[in-house]
Amino acid sequence: MQTVAVLSLKGGVGKTTVVLGLASAAMRRGVRTLVVDLDPQCNATACLEPEPTSKGLSDVLADPRPAVLRAAVTGSSWGEEVDVLVGSEDAENHNGHHPDGRHLSRLTEALSELDGLTAEGELPYQLVLLDCPPSLGRLTRSALIAADRALLVTEPTIFAVSGVQRAFEAVHAERESNNPRLQPLGVVVNRVRPRSHEHQFRIDELRDIFGPLVMPVALPDRLAVQQAQGACMPIHQWGTPGAREVALAFNLILARTLRAGRSRHSESDDELLDGAE
Ligand SMILES: Nc1ncnc2c1ncn2[C@@H]1O[C@H](COP(=O)(O)OP(=O)(O)OP(=O)(O)O)[C@@H](O)[C@H]1O
Ligand SMILES: [Mg+2]
Repeated sequence: MQTVAVLSLKGGVGKTTVVLGLASAAMRRGVRTLVVDLDPQCNATACLEPEPTSKGLSDVLADPRPAVLRAAVTGSSWGEEVDVLVGSEDAENHNGHHPDGRHLSRLTEALSELDGLTAEGELPYQLVLLDCPPSLGRLTRSALIAADRALLVTEPTIFAVSGVQRAFEAVHAERESNNPRLQPLGVVVNRVRPRSHEHQFRIDELRDIFGPLVMPVALPDRLAVQQAQGACMPIHQWGTPGAREVALAFNLILARTLRAGRSRHSESDDELLDGAE
């Protein structure tokens, strides 16, 4: 199982879009996936239209026992490959400082029981996607402690370099203090307009500084992304030329994500993180 935290410091840059796009690509490949909605806005949950549950993320963070996890995880309307640990609007209560540092490990504790949720004849989860809120508070830190990989999302703007740098620093800090297995998966540049010189300049700037950590494939800015999300549909099923373009990019990012899972803890990854500090 590969657990990926999708994060950015800034709001609205495409974290949820990346989580949903990867879930859509995973579904197409038959990769059983759990989306964990850590954001009190619950956008991923809304798009995946889960069956009703008696518990949600807040309950799991308050009490990470398997029975609570089981009550908070349910099927999505997308298909049997994609399940959801549903978000909670009151998850914000878990985002501020807490005097007991052990609270940060509650998500890890809960997710360690995921295999126990697999019913007879069902495949275990192969991919767990953690959709983080737009801050580096306790919820995002919990995700970084529970994850094997951190996937950073940015738009190609003047603030991209400093935002990505700070997010890498947060990944590094969590790796040093709480989660030695955490590795950066890379930076996805989202909402790129291919003919924009400014966007190309910003992507080149990111590549100069972060090298191969910047994903070779960027996500184009396409109306289809918003249309598919508005209709609660996987982007791979939207069917317009723009949707196909975005879906193809997600296939490539998923392939890299799954490959990274197979080569976890390799020396070259350690070098990549060191290069990002
Ligand atoms: N590649 C894209 N093309 C067109 N629209 C996009 C693209 N990526 C994201 N959007 C749109 O931008 C808005 C913000 O995206 P999204 O919700 O994924 O960001 P986020 O980082 O999760 O936001 P938040 O920080 O609030 O959680 C959404 O309306 C989404 O549909
Ligand atoms: Mg979001």
